[in-house]
Amino acid sequence: MREISVTLGERTYPILIEAGSLNQIGERFLERFSIDSPVLVLTDDNVARIYLENVQVALEDAGFRSWDYVITAGETSKRLEVVSKVYDFLIEKKAPRGVIVVGLGGGVVGDITSFIASTYKRGVPYIALPTTLLAQVDSSVGGKTGVHHRGEKNVIGTIYQPQFVLIDTDCLSTLPKREFLAGMAEVVKQGAIKNPEFFAYLEHHYRDILNLEQDDLLKTVGDCCQLKSDVVAEDEFDERARHVLNYGHTVAHALEGLTGFRHYMHGEAVSIGMVAAAKVSLAVGKCSADDVVRQERLLRSIGLPTRLEKHFILQLLDHLYADKKRVGDEIMFVVCTGIGSADIWPVKPERLVELLSAI
Ligand SMILES: NC(=O)c1ccc[n+]([C@@H]2O[C@H](COP(=O)([O-])OP(=O)(O)OC[C@H]3O[C@@H](n4cnc5c(N)ncnc54)[C@H](O)[C@@H]3O)[C@@H](O)[C@H]2O)c1
Ligand SMILES: [Zn+2]
Repeated sequence: MREISVTLGERTYPILIEAGSLNQIGERFLERFSIDSPVLVLTDDNVARIYLENVQVALEDAGFRSWDYVITAGETSKRLEVVSKVYDFLIEKKAPRGVIVVGLGGGVVGDITSFIASTYKRGVPYIALPTTLLAQVDSSVGGKTGVHHRGEKNVIGTIYQPQFVLIDTDCLSTLPKREFLAGMAEVVKQGAIKNPEFFAYLEHHYRDILNLEQDDLLKTVGDCCQLKSDVVAEDEFDERARHVLNYGHTVAHALEGLTGFRHYMHGEAVSIGMVAAAKVSLAVGKCSADDVVRQERLLRSIGLPTRLEKHFILQLLDHLYADKKRVGDEIMFVVCTGIGSADIWPVKPERLVELLSAI
């Protein structure tokens, strides 16, 4: 078992990573909670089919009373109407202040469940059991919760830390391949912005990871959690240091918006966005040509798209104007300053489009 501590003063919590660990969830609960506390396991219908029964049996064998609530899989469940139905369920069950709320699933389940845990009775214990690669390496670290509203992504939310995160890397074996690859984009991003050794490791071992070799999955997920938790520990409330995590995301968000969130998965758009950001970084003298080649080669070898189609570039402008991370008339664009390091480079949207057109 690998244990990583997310160091946030009183809210410090562990991330426990091990193959097969879902089956030991009962023991992990007994170490921390009294069996008098009821447990709500929230999951989606895909994950429920594969994992819910095991988790509930493990909890019940340990002596916990457990309820389940299954939402429809997919982004459309990230809305207040769904949250409200779960509140109804908790109230009907007379769930007390000590109810333990567990999110079993990908980032959608994680974001919605942690939002519910952070608001029901002004906050109840939350446990994350992430089952997608994206959730294991990214969304389960950092405490961002939330739902979409009126077409705005993640516009209603809180920052709320779990009691612990339990990652079972065996869950990745049932994940659809395209979902897995999309998660790999965030993995590559972590290396590209924070850790040159980890990036080099990915260059040598990406095939082992794609083949789900256990040791490589443990290292990859563990290192990513460590990297993100270091960033979060520096900046829990999303001010400065966390911003480099948006590497590749300016172009990715614009691309997702332009294509109505249907054409590219988020990770695919991030892959294209990272290569675009690397090329812009090279054009303005922030990194070397080799830094660009290495990122493009790794992402392509993994099987992710890397090409920003020309016809999108001019259309990007409106989306760049709408960029959430704008300060005044400038976008806080994240540039690559060499493999393993990144920086914030304020740039006007028109200038960015000009640079992208030239790459
Ligand atoms: N809170 C944060 O910091 C943060 C960071 C990044 C992304 N997010 C959010 O995460 C969400 C995306 O998360 P995601 O990519 O995990 O998507 P997801 O939760 O929709 O999961 C993807 C699909 O895989 C299925 N699935 C999950 N685990 C499985 C398994 N082990 N085997 C088989 N199928 C499985 C799900 O049912 C779903 O159909 C977005 O809503 C995004 O906003 C949050
Ligand atoms: Zn992302």
